Amino acid sequence: MKNIIVLGAQWGDEGKGKVVDIYTEFADIVARATGGNNAGHTLVVRGEKYIFHLIPSGILHRGKKCVITNGVVVDPKVLLSEIDKLKSRDYLKDDDQLRVSSLAHIILPYHIALDRVREEKLGNRKIGTTARGIGPCYEDKVARTGIRACDLVDPDILAEKLRDNLELKNFLLKNYYGAEEIDFPSTLSEHLSYGERLKPYLIDTSLFLNEEINRGAKVLFEGAQGTHLDIDHGTYPFVTSSNTTAGGLCTGSGVAPTKIGGVIGVAKAYITRVGSGPFPTELFDDEGQKIRDRGCEYGSTTGRPRRCGWFDAPVVRYANRVNALNGIALTKLDVLSGLPRVKVCVAYEVGGVRREEVPLTLSEFEGARPVYEEMEGWKEELSDAREFGDLPKTTQRYVRRLEELTGVEISMISIGAERNQTIIRKNPFRA
Ligand code: GDP
Ligand code: IMO
Ligand code: MG
Repeated sequence: MKNIIVLGAQWGDEGKGKVVDIYTEFADIVARATGGNNAGHTLVVRGEKYIFHLIPSGILHRGKKCVITNGVVVDPKVLLSEIDKLKSRDYLKDDDQLRVSSLAHIILPYHIALDRVREEKLGNRKIGTTARGIGPCYEDKVARTGIRACDLVDPDILAEKLRDNLELKNFLLKNYYGAEEIDFPSTLSEHLSYGERLKPYLIDTSLFLNEEINRGAKVLFEGAQGTHLDIDHGTYPFVTSSNTTAGGLCTGSGVAPTKIGGVIGVAKAYITRVGSGPFPTELFDDEGQKIRDRGCEYGSTTGRPRRCGWFDAPVVRYANRVNALNGIALTKLDVLSGLPRVKVCVAYEVGGVRREEVPLTLSEFEGARPVYEEMEGWKEELSDAREFGDLPKTTQRYVRRLEELTGVEISMISIGAERNQTIIRKNPFRA
């Protein structure tokens, strides 16, 4: 049974898009199950760059099906624009290639407005969200007042649900935040027209995936965000509003854990974070800027500069604990070339005491000082390497040390954004 989950082992932007694109060759179906268009997954194929926010990163492989399951929150305007862009680049010729859950919750304009005004009100205590309405949409889902994709194709139900929701949201927007209200008639007609366009893609995705799996199809589940942005297991409240960890992909897709054959965690050879929250190994010096420049560390969704720091082994060990990783796809190793030495955080010091694990509380994590191990760097560019043995000995030592410190085998190494700049040491679909 080869259904594989690929998810982020750090704070997002680890390179999941590229890894999913590589593994799609060995799968039949690629499914997103969590998050929304807060995600930005970048693929570089033969010099052409593609950024996907909602559509699974397998879509450039013609003939492979891509599925957006009901754990995803869908902004229909963003999804339709992604569909249009793909078609204009000669992909997604057959609409059947993309399936969307009828039960996926819909991001509406009031979710986006509330996300923005809430962040403004928080001032310097803000979460640093992507301002895409993700949190407010998941809140409505949990409150059982959300609007789902199937509602967009039923004018009476949509009108009723939208009217009810707007009564409260507009009260909040106007009276609590002093912001502009959202107009009912234009929002209704806009979303009915989105419904018309999305209708051909809507299905029962849990039924589809389970039937395909029972027929022998291989499914690749594409995580969004990262383990430490998980609503339960991340650095709360500086997290996203969904379960980004392995269990979340099962819940979000309606495919049971017993049908999953493996979990691959994607981790950068260093670490980045966008938005606020603890980050013990963050660099504020020239070395941090060098990594940001060489790694082009600017957000794929919001363009914000990403905070950069040294590889944090306890962070990835934690990802292994909650996801039981079968392997790590280590990305952006090429970015570290030219640094005279590289550091790895092996543990923390919290209140003068050495701690091997990520602290449980936010205040402890904020006060954690990294304990570093320094290693010799390497000057050589790595992007032409195709096998582990092609890497300089110092780089090989670095990779092996990360394996020891995380307790997980590094099964793939990425040494450039392009598809072919990849070393596959073990293929989870064949293992
Ligand atoms: P995701 O959200 O996890 O899919 O990651 P993003 O796409 O937001 O960010 C990863 C960035 O790194 C993208 O611009 C990728 O094209 C790029 N990238 C991925 N792997 C590598 C790599 O091994 N080396 C370099 N230099 N860039 C990479
Ligand atoms: P991918 O899938 C990195 C971060 C935001 C913010 C927090 C909450 O590309 O790795 P939200 O808009 O979700 O309410 O923001 O989560 N965040 C991400 N950071 N990569 C992402 O996605 C992210 N999605 C959300 O910056 O700190
Ligand atoms: Mg990203």
